[in-house]
Amino acid sequence: MAGAMMLNPLTAISSRAFTADKKMRIAIVGTGSRALGMWSKDVLKNYPDKVEYVGLCDINPGRLEYFKKTAGFTCPVFTDFEKMMKEVKPDTLIVTTVDSTHHEFIIRGMELGANIITEKPMTTDEQKCEAILQTEKKTGKKVTVTFNYRYSPHRAKMYELLRSGEIGDLTSVDFHWYLDTGHGSDYFRRWHRLKEKGGTLWVHKATHHFDLLNWWIESDPSEVFATGTLDFYGKNNSFRHTNCRPCPHKGSCNFYFDMTRNAQYMALYADHEKYDGYLRDGCVWKEDINIYDKMAATIKYANGVQVSYSLTTYSPYEGYRIAFNGTKGRIDVWIEESNPIEERPYDEIVVTKNFGTREFIRVSHGTSGHGGGDKLLKDKIFGGVSEDPLHQSASVRDGALSILVGIAARKSCETGAPVKIADLTSIKPGVKRQFAG
Ligand SMILES: NC(=O)c1ccc[n+]([C@@H]2O[C@H](COP(=O)([O-])OP(=O)(O)OC[C@H]3O[C@@H](n4cnc5c(N)ncnc54)[C@H](O)[C@@H]3O)[C@@H](O)[C@H]2O)c1
Repeated sequence: MAGAMMLNPLTAISSRAFTADKKMRIAIVGTGSRALGMWSKDVLKNYPDKVEYVGLCDINPGRLEYFKKTAGFTCPVFTDFEKMMKEVKPDTLIVTTVDSTHHEFIIRGMELGANIITEKPMTTDEQKCEAILQTEKKTGKKVTVTFNYRYSPHRAKMYELLRSGEIGDLTSVDFHWYLDTGHGSDYFRRWHRLKEKGGTLWVHKATHHFDLLNWWIESDPSEVFATGTLDFYGKNNSFRHTNCRPCPHKGSCNFYFDMTRNAQYMALYADHEKYDGYLRDGCVWKEDINIYDKMAATIKYANGVQVSYSLTTYSPYEGYRIAFNGTKGRIDVWIEESNPIEERPYDEIVVTKNFGTREFIRVSHGTSGHGGGDKLLKDKIFGGVSEDPLHQSASVRDGALSILVGIAARKSCETGAPVKIADLTSIKPGVKRQFAG
């Protein structure tokens, strides 16, 4: 083993004083778990002089009230989005609803004068994507897609290594993501299980992975060929029920999920089922599940790089393997996120030179969610960090290009043919990625 080097994650981002005099006047639409955990009380606590919350909206009035109380907010709540926008006139709208509805709020939010911070995926099909692109142009407002994965310290280091020329010219990438039986199955319990709500995991989940690829490769994806099947969840079992709490099979099902042990889930979801019938502990064997649980794609980039990608949703462990192959060597990374055995405080990147040495680079973890990425992302959005040396900020174009890979993959699965990104929207893939302004 060659020498190991330890890097400080915070070197990835340099900061500058916040220049705006006015606080951001923020409204949230979609008061579920992501908004509560990522975009509410924590933001107010950490950036009190930069933000104020002026409105909350959700179609579930019970969840809305619980959210307001738990977040400690005093702003008005609405079940009517249009009314909220017109009454409280936010300058910033955070969109954290079900994926297939994002476009409604992104588009109308911009039309009513707000800049948008939207959770991934920006939207779920190419028509909605094009409508968002056109509205941004027409209104002059700005859409920011919150790709927190870009901000994990080890991923930022991978970006730096790729730009440094350590492995010469990048030619191909092998990228394989494993969701374990706990995390992976959770997508099959909820609205994500339906293509019409989450666009399949090609879009809902893999948008993170495709965005990372687009950022690391620094070129635009141009063509996708993919396959996918539903081999494990859904109809692939001999028994099923509506959801876990009343299930007669709970004693024998490996996927029994005792939601009653999670006080927050009970208060956020179970207590308000009467309003919308949303079952947070839905059965993973439901026959209406119409998404893939095993997926593989070949992705071509405009600069000639080719990618082999796969996503597995019922693995015994959680993590990913990635290798970047270049003309002078290779970068390998194996991140096992669910393995507490090693409990090491760093992630390791291995750089091997053709005919040369091997170097092990250790990058400290961040302490917030998603490997420290969630906090760094919020520092950038709310904390006045405006410089962007690693080009981590994600524009509407970045949001679009990440989902377009997933949309193309989904179409390819359905048709059996490769799909060109240029055929989906007005975005034409460029050899060099356009950075967010
Ligand atoms: N970046 C990440 O790592 C990450 C992690 C989790 C979730 N997310 C994203 O956050 C978003 C929300 O996910 P979640 O896990 O909080 O889901 P959730 O089901 O807990 O919350 C969604 C909320 O939206 C509300 N809603 C649905 N349709 C609506 C409508 N038409 N108008 C108003 N409200 C509506 C629901 O009632 C619910 O309260 C999703 O887009 C998801 O992809 C991102």
